[in-house]
Amino acid sequence: MALVIAIDGPAAAGKGTLARKLAAHYGLPHLDTGLTYRATAKALLDAGKPLDDEAIAAEMAGAIDLGGLDRAVLSAHEIGEAASKVAAMPRVRVALVAAQRRFAETDRGAVLDGRDIGTVVCPDATVKLYVTADAELRARRRYDEIVGGGGVADFAEIFEDVKRRDARDMGRKDSPLRPADDAHLLDTSKMGIEAAFQAARAIIDGQL
Ligand code: C5P
Repeated sequence: MALVIAIDGPAAAGKGTLARKLAAHYGLPHLDTGLTYRATAKALLDAGKPLDDEAIAAEMAGAIDLGGLDRAVLSAHEIGEAASKVAAMPRVRVALVAAQRRFAETDRGAVLDGRDIGTVVCPDATVKLYVTADAELRARRRYDEIVGGGGVADFAEIFEDVKRRDARDMGRKDSPLRPADDAHLLDTSKMGIEAAFQAARAIIDGQL
């Protein structure tokens, strides 16, 4: 039986790290679905197209190659902001969700992380995890990551960005960020990423 692990949660909650660790542990392919929205946004920005033209955005989304997604190229803060705007458009979501479902439909299974995996993309996933953490702490982690990497950052600005992105992702009409009814909640402000990994393993192994 295929093992499909759906991981959702707000920005900078640690779901990407958790998803990578679980994929390595269970030997499954992993898709960071945020990159598909980021790649769509970048394609629009690069082409000089407006971010609010749904027809063009949907066309760009339909052309995204899942094999060519590179976080290093897509990590810029402006791309994340643009992605969360593009992600509110239903036609963009239809195109990307179709590609994400194809990725999940393998014999062995897959790990997918994003905002709507347990609720929309893979409602029949074997295990659903909702990874969250206090907003200020998530902003602090993002800040430490940038400064730790030699960059310059303004904490207050990052904190405002995190709150704005949460509000946009949770408040949109189409596929808002929320835990699926059958999701297991993991709060990484209380336990840290390694403990969250161990807790997730225990939950997943309990379903096998
Ligand atoms: O997770 P990441 O910051 O890379 O995602 C960028 C944006 O893409 C999010 O703020 C969200 O608006 C959108 N997204 C989404 N559904 C997903 C994954 C990401 O709407 N499954």
